[in-house]
Amino acid sequence: MNKPFIAPSVLAADFANIQSEVEMLNESVADWIHVDIMDGRFVPNISFGIPVAEAINRHAKKPLDVHLMIEQPENYVDQFYKAGAASITVHYEACPHLHRNIQQIKELGIKAGVALNPHTNVQLLEDIISEIDIVLIMSVNPGFGGQKFIENTYKKVKQLKEIIIDAGADTLIEIDGGVNEGNARKLINSGADVLVAGSFVFKSEDPKGTILDLKNV
Ligand code: DX5
Ligand code: ZN
Repeated sequence: MNKPFIAPSVLAADFANIQSEVEMLNESVADWIHVDIMDGRFVPNISFGIPVAEAINRHAKKPLDVHLMIEQPENYVDQFYKAGAASITVHYEACPHLHRNIQQIKELGIKAGVALNPHTNVQLLEDIISEIDIVLIMSVNPGFGGQKFIENTYKKVKQLKEIIIDAGADTLIEIDGGVNEGNARKLINSGADVLVAGSFVFKSEDPKGTILDLKNV
């Protein structure tokens, strides 16, 4: 079994000490730094915007994995690219012209991701799966950290894995929301490649150790 990529979500970090939080991630075995952008419209919460993403990137030695929980993401893709994004993920539910959004991101030379809310069926991506670098399966309803993991996620991961294999694609499956040491192994066994973890990492006594535990689960 391959080791998963671990992408700690800075949404749960201490923003007053963002430099030291990012330096902690630099020293850890984290693979990506997950950056959650919320607009108060697509989701019922506001997180932070481009200047904060830039500030994180100034200290980061790992790729920024930007998750846009916003309406009309096409208007902001360039700015997040300039802020240092190595991948940009948009929501299926926010994009009536999803294929165009994916092309827009890929033209910048970075990874393009599509996120699915818990009610959105993975089969909806079947026709364009080969063009998607990352599918992010939401395992909670987007908008807040610290929520309970939705058990139906395992089924979605397995279904998506089959679609990817049938298409001969190399799309990564990323899981976001309520990830912890109790569900990580089952997620990886189901086909997940990347695990996002916010509160489980940052609220633990030893975040670096917790990241290592997730990596070796
Ligand atoms: C939720 C965000 C997640 C969140 C995960 O809307 O997309 O990335 O930060 O936080 P935890 O791991 O605490 O559920
Ligand atoms: Zn996220």
